[in-house]
Amino acid sequence: MARILLRSLLAIYLLFNHQVRSADYGVGFDLALDYGVASVYFSNGTAVNIAKIPGGPAYKQMMRATEVLDGRATAYHTWFGDILEVGTGAAQAFLGLRSVGDLLSLRLGSRDTHSQSLSPMLKALKTATESYLEASISAAEVVVPFPVSDAYLDILRSTCFSLSLHMPMSAQPPAGILAARAHGMVGKCNIVTRDKGSEQGQADDPMQLILTVDYTQAALTALLVVEECGVFEYRRVLHDTSLGVDGLSGGSDTNRGDLVRALQSFTRLPLEDDNGDELGRISNLVLLGESAGDQRLHDVLKDVLGERFHRLATTVSGEHTKNIDPLYAASRGVAEDCWDRLEYQSKRAQVVSDCYNLRLSDAKATQ
Ligand SMILES: *[C@@H]1O[C@H](CO)[C@@H](O)[C@H](O)[C@H]1NC(C)=O
Repeated sequence: MARILLRSLLAIYLLFNHQVRSADYGVGFDLALDYGVASVYFSNGTAVNIAKIPGGPAYKQMMRATEVLDGRATAYHTWFGDILEVGTGAAQAFLGLRSVGDLLSLRLGSRDTHSQSLSPMLKALKTATESYLEASISAAEVVVPFPVSDAYLDILRSTCFSLSLHMPMSAQPPAGILAARAHGMVGKCNIVTRDKGSEQGQADDPMQLILTVDYTQAALTALLVVEECGVFEYRRVLHDTSLGVDGLSGGSDTNRGDLVRALQSFTRLPLEDDNGDELGRISNLVLLGESAGDQRLHDVLKDVLGERFHRLATTVSGEHTKNIDPLYAASRGVAEDCWDRLEYQSKRAQVVSDCYNLRLSDAKATQ
């Protein structure tokens, strides 16, 4: 009887976990105001830029009408998979519940015009990725340039679900944070790697302040992000459709001066952290989006950041880069995150099936 119960529990568990084998790759989509891009991240650390898909009128309109959430964000953790090694059963149980909850919300999620505008784009990105992989995909993660409401994320998730795509992440941070992750701007700390011998005794990496600038024809989206021990939190968001390349190119009221003033007030320091300490220095700069190479943007950033621009820009194009195309920086970061989560889920499924086998052999031994 107990064995049948265990077996059915396992069957249910496997049903709810799409990936039980070790994950070979993760897929990431980045939705900008006018286009979407897709990347794949392989378990050997290689990332591939798949495609840039131009959006249609309904997509563009929907992306422009999406509400930009201001207010405090939930922190984004990059050390997700390490929870397993550190071994907090409670965290695993919590995460397990979360994914069942996610599935339920997928089924009940609302489908309206937003979903109809998103669907062709997500479908095209999925098809392009499948054509590259020559295999069908069942999971992908999606980010947008700015923080969005839970309601919007629900629509995104249910649209993916209608395309047979499961999203492993439950609360996506804005694209800039994933681009910073793709560039490897992830601090190491003993608290996270406590149980891994090699890291012991090393000083923690300091907290860093990262400026991310997502620049496209349609908009400027900047984030001021605090990173410590692989945990990212945005503190300020600037999203302005009049400051994109199109907005600044003739026929409109905005000009270079507006861009300078917007970035100047946005990067005004110091910024207070949670402990009341002051962060007075931007230590990293990440440029992303189709127009990240725009000369006017670079000139303005030089004006705003002064001498630091060259140093920061060198950091970005120096040791960190891995030669990342700014157009694909966020989709690459989110593909890596997707892989991490699938890998974690498969380890977790392994733990469950190991437990099951153990219990089964216990049962046999006592018979
Ligand atoms: C990583 O794996 C992918 C897919 O199997 C392959 O195309 C790529 O060449 C590999 N990269 C390296 C550096 O081995």
